[in-house]
Amino acid sequence: MDKKVIELLNDQINKEFYSAYLYLDMANYYIENDLDGFGNWYTIQAQEERDHAMLIMQYMQNNGLSIDLKTIDKPDKVFASPLDPLKVGSEHERYVTSLINNIYDAAYQVKDFRTMQFLDWFIKEQGEEETNADSLVKKYQLFGTDPKGLYLLNQELAARVYTAPSLTL
Ligand code: FEO
Repeated sequence: MDKKVIELLNDQINKEFYSAYLYLDMANYYIENDLDGFGNWYTIQAQEERDHAMLIMQYMQNNGLSIDLKTIDKPDKVFASPLDPLKVGSEHERYVTSLINNIYDAAYQVKDFRTMQFLDWFIKEQGEEETNADSLVKKYQLFGTDPKGLYLLNQELAARVYTAPSLTL
């Protein structure tokens, strides 16, 4: 397999674990501020990010590649209001989409069809993640500034349950 594709896949494991860390930091912010539903939503989001990391790691293992696990950065965002993490989440997902697209492009350049097919799931997943993140920002802007609206939104997010990824390798 191409060296650059391998390097980007390996880096993406770290980026996905960082995403999990970032979302756990957001979950903690909400839990500390008595918005347990928001906390639940981001705790589950963090679980999904760990799944993404594990899927990439498994793909590399299946292809006999050596994996170099790197240090996970400390999340350093400061949140001044409950809207802030939602905006950070939305920006972060766009960034992750750009990373996935970059790996896809590297695989495309060298006709690595196997990696492109593997990444197809991630391309679709990123579309969903961006939509979900944007929807949270919009919902908060519409309802979150009203105490009753915030209460109901918190209840809605409390109902999210974890489901394992639909991708099998
Ligand atoms: Fe692993 Fe939220 O993308």
